[in-house]
Amino acid sequence: MAKQFKKIGILTSGGDAPGMNAAVRAVTRYALNKGLEVYGIYEGYKGLIEGKGSIKKFAPHDVANILNIGGTVLYSARCVEFKQEEYIQKAVDTCHEFGIDGIVTIGGDGTFRGASDLCKHGIPCIGIPGTIDNDITCTDNSIGYDTAMNTVIEAVDRLRDTCESHARCNVVEVMGRNAGYIALETSIALGATAVVVLEDANYNEANVIEKIKVAREAGKRNFIVIVAEGVDNYAEGLAKRIQSETGVETKFARLAHIVRGGSPTLRDRVLAAKMGVAAVDFLLEGKENVFVCERDGEMVATDIQEAIVIDKLYKSTFTPGMSAPEALKNYSPERQAEMKEFCDMRTKEVQKLLKISESISNYK
Ligand code: F6P
Repeated sequence: MAKQFKKIGILTSGGDAPGMNAAVRAVTRYALNKGLEVYGIYEGYKGLIEGKGSIKKFAPHDVANILNIGGTVLYSARCVEFKQEEYIQKAVDTCHEFGIDGIVTIGGDGTFRGASDLCKHGIPCIGIPGTIDNDITCTDNSIGYDTAMNTVIEAVDRLRDTCESHARCNVVEVMGRNAGYIALETSIALGATAVVVLEDANYNEANVIEKIKVAREAGKRNFIVIVAEGVDNYAEGLAKRIQSETGVETKFARLAHIVRGGSPTLRDRVLAAKMGVAAVDFLLEGKENVFVCERDGEMVATDIQEAIVIDKLYKSTFTPGMSAPEALKNYSPERQAEMKEFCDMRTKEVQKLLKISESISNYK
């Protein structure tokens, strides 16, 4: 029989993302409607460790007028201590003290590892993916991704205006530590001359230089090259080399955290609402140690451990020095094959995007 929930906690952790507030509101309002008590936990796992002073009982008005605001009203922290048993136990004690029966955690991969540890200590957790990078392999979309991409295209459209006036190139680095999705999709939306992501095993700088030369010959004045942050220490040097080898004056811009702020788009607000409602439903159905994934428009519950393994497996296919996770061996050969197939599907999606980006940016 499913556990009877009376009180749930909600927290945001890791890098913030636009739409987190919409998710906090959705979870709170929906849970209150279901007759639960809701406790807002401030500064993520750090707040849970600290306990009193970082925890507030929420009424409906406590989450009013936050839907459209960027960042997270619950604040966030990257809590390194939370890997240690002593601190996990303190967090568990806080849950017992407040009578919190389960927690909804909103964040990225680090957040889910924390949630998984809490589950192992008897506190059921449901994760909601909130990260601009969209780098959680098991879900099609994470909260914040759409807004971040829209912010990128707004900023780079502006850069293009001035590049056109001055016949320049601009190399733009966008966020995305372990995934090039932001770079890939925005490169298409922006008609970028080239995109550089870790996932592209065939990337060749000489081709980019040649492409710019050919297009300049054909009369093209402005050039935009998008580079994902994950391609470490690359973008600025590339700008210098483009200038010296093509003769096209080239500027470098790093959009960095500007892409993490701002009011969430409609897509992120709706995704946050769907995921928030699904998270509470999953808890009430007795699911735990799962996170809410969007797959083909549906909200599905995915085991957190499995999701972490799939995530590492996928990233190991393009991240230098990273190998398939040890934990993969814990699964049956059939399940391993399914996991690999899932990763192949993600790889194919990325290849498709790369092909589209390339095929509509040539001046040949
Ligand atoms: O995980 C999201 C992200 O925005 C990454 O793209 C980026 O590398 C990282 O967070 C930056 O983190 P911080 O806010 O700790 O500098």
